[in-house]
Amino acid sequence: MKVIVIGATGTIGSAIVRAIGHRHEVIPFSHSKSVNNVDIADTASISEMFEAIGPVDSVISAAGLAKFGPMTLLTDADFALGLNNKLMGQVNLVRFGMDHIRDNGSFTLTSGILSRKPMNGSTAISLVNSAIEGFVRAAALEMPRGIRINVVSPNWVVDTLEAFNMDPSIGTPVEVVARAYVKVLEGTMNGEVFDAI
Ligand SMILES: NC(=O)c1ccc[n+]([C@@H]2O[C@H](COP(=O)([O-])OP(=O)(O)OC[C@H]3O[C@@H](n4cnc5c(N)ncnc54)[C@H](OP(=O)(O)O)[C@@H]3O)[C@@H](O)[C@H]2O)c1
Repeated sequence: MKVIVIGATGTIGSAIVRAIGHRHEVIPFSHSKSVNNVDIADTASISEMFEAIGPVDSVISAAGLAKFGPMTLLTDADFALGLNNKLMGQVNLVRFGMDHIRDNGSFTLTSGILSRKPMNGSTAISLVNSAIEGFVRAAALEMPRGIRINVVSPNWVVDTLEAFNMDPSIGTPVEVVARAYVKVLEGTMNGEVFDAI
């Protein structure tokens, strides 16, 4: 399959590329550090990406920013970051990408464990993750031409916990998280939230 991976330079995205690169044609994209760049918060940039690449079988998104911090300290701009970037960025990949996906292709988006296991400081991220999952369940009902849409909800990745000086023992190795994306890419599920734990 010809697969666009967005967030390909990131912790999760780079593991996805390693997991599928040997058996699919991967076209890596990231914000600024990959060979191909896209800004998912900018609909013109999303359209340019699809026009440049032409028809693909699948899009995997492992990108999206949202603000972590105590709810009382979060500003309008902090909430807007998650809504415009992680939520609408991924929704717009679907809206603007749909006509560029081949029959029976797929979209795989990313939410995260904080949608159903919140913690202090996660309100803005939990909000966005839950919204992505709601979008995917509903959008699956309207997908044309056999196109599937799913969302992977990763647990905390071990490397990320270590980078934040948090307890890595509650995390999941990134290779295990990447395998969830492979299962969704190569499987038949549609409209599902797939926990990568
Ligand atoms: N890591 C975890 O423990 C974990 C757990 C649950 C959910 N998640 C979610 O999984 C996703 C990826 O997490 P990660 O830890 O792999 O992140 P990461 O290591 O920070 O990597 C982020 C990736 O997204 C790209 N990116 C950032 N802003 C973008 C934009 N506006 N348009 C296009 N690409 C953009 C970055 O590109 P550049 O490198 O070019 O800047 C990079 O490739 C995030 O949505 C995160 O919330 C992560």
